[in-house]
Amino acid sequence: MKDIFDECNFGEFKLKSRIIRTGAWERQTEDGGFLSSEVFERYEKMAKSGVGLILSEMFAFDPKDRFYEYSSNINYRGFIKDYKQITGICHEYDVPILGQLAFFYYDDGDNQKAEPNDLTIDGIRKLQAEVIMVAKKFSFAGFDGVQINMGNNFYLSRFTNPYFNQRKDKYGGNTLNRLRIVLEIIQLIKKTIGFHVSCRINIEDVRKGGLTQEESMKMAKLLAEHGAESIQITGRTISMKYDASQKHIFLDFANKLAQDIDIPVILAGNLRDMETMNGILNTSNIEFMSLSKPFIAQADFLADWKENGKGTSRCKGCNNCYSKKESRCLQFDAIDD
Ligand SMILES: Cc1cc2nc3c(=O)[nH]c(=O)nc-3n(C[C@H](O)[C@H](O)[C@H](O)COP(=O)(O)O)c2cc1C
Ligand code: SF4
Repeated sequence: MKDIFDECNFGEFKLKSRIIRTGAWERQTEDGGFLSSEVFERYEKMAKSGVGLILSEMFAFDPKDRFYEYSSNINYRGFIKDYKQITGICHEYDVPILGQLAFFYYDDGDNQKAEPNDLTIDGIRKLQAEVIMVAKKFSFAGFDGVQINMGNNFYLSRFTNPYFNQRKDKYGGNTLNRLRIVLEIIQLIKKTIGFHVSCRINIEDVRKGGLTQEESMKMAKLLAEHGAESIQITGRTISMKYDASQKHIFLDFANKLAQDIDIPVILAGNLRDMETMNGILNTSNIEFMSLSKPFIAQADFLADWKENGKGTSRCKGCNNCYSKKESRCLQFDAIDD
């Protein structure tokens, strides 16, 4: 029988459990822009609690990017100092941590919002070089790898999506061509830094003419063939066409993908109780699961689950944290303070 607290291998990492904390903006800062003690305390609680792997919140690199003011970024003065401390906390508890890179707009030097069809080949090279620099900075700060967010509605999800990408050169057209920009990035990161590369991808795009599940499956396989070492499944949640009563909307897709590729596939979204999660582990090919809001609601909830052999997250799913763009739980933090 599989259990969420099984020790297991995840690429080159040995994890203490199958549970992955997935990113949530948490850039509470103090005067001078450095991370506040609240953030360090939260990381310590998570790392101590039995989590297997941590995916950081998104880091952007352009100050004019859409989520720049809420999320962290690699350009502030204290980045290396703060994140050396954060990654150090994780490593003290033998928890690997990947830095997530996500950007919504891309400034190619001429156009602050250059959409995929507008980018020149020089623009593509500039983008790729900047992504490699982010990965290098992650490496200086002690991260164990990078997660490229090419899901949700971020720039690389649009670049790889036939709805947005109608380029006529080798970066547009068929699946391999649209994915080429990312495949080249992965290969460069592997060559120059050598650390773990994870990709966060969409199950599909619900627009007519957008990415289908079949093509997304093909993309995941191409990513794995070209050096990606783990894949997390997500979607454009605001446009989900799924039945609201269907709780684990990515399960069937993740299950099939996990059968077809031999790198870790991470199931995400709405996982809230240990019994259900163990049920999924034992009736599917899923080996890894990621959770976000449960860690916002209580950073160390896994310690209670482990001790009791059962548990349900206290997150009520109100989504206020997301709406307010905060990693503070609006239901419980006031009570706990
Ligand atoms: C406050 C908040 C901030 C988030 N920030 C990020 C982020 O920085 N990067 C990311 O990939 N996803 C982010 N997400 C999405 C989560 O990682 C996750 O995919 C989503 O909440 C669904 O998982 P859950 O049901 O376990 O919360 C955020 C979600 C919330 C609620
Ligand atoms: S604010 Fe709402 S959705 Fe966010 S963690 Fe708290 S209960 Fe969950």
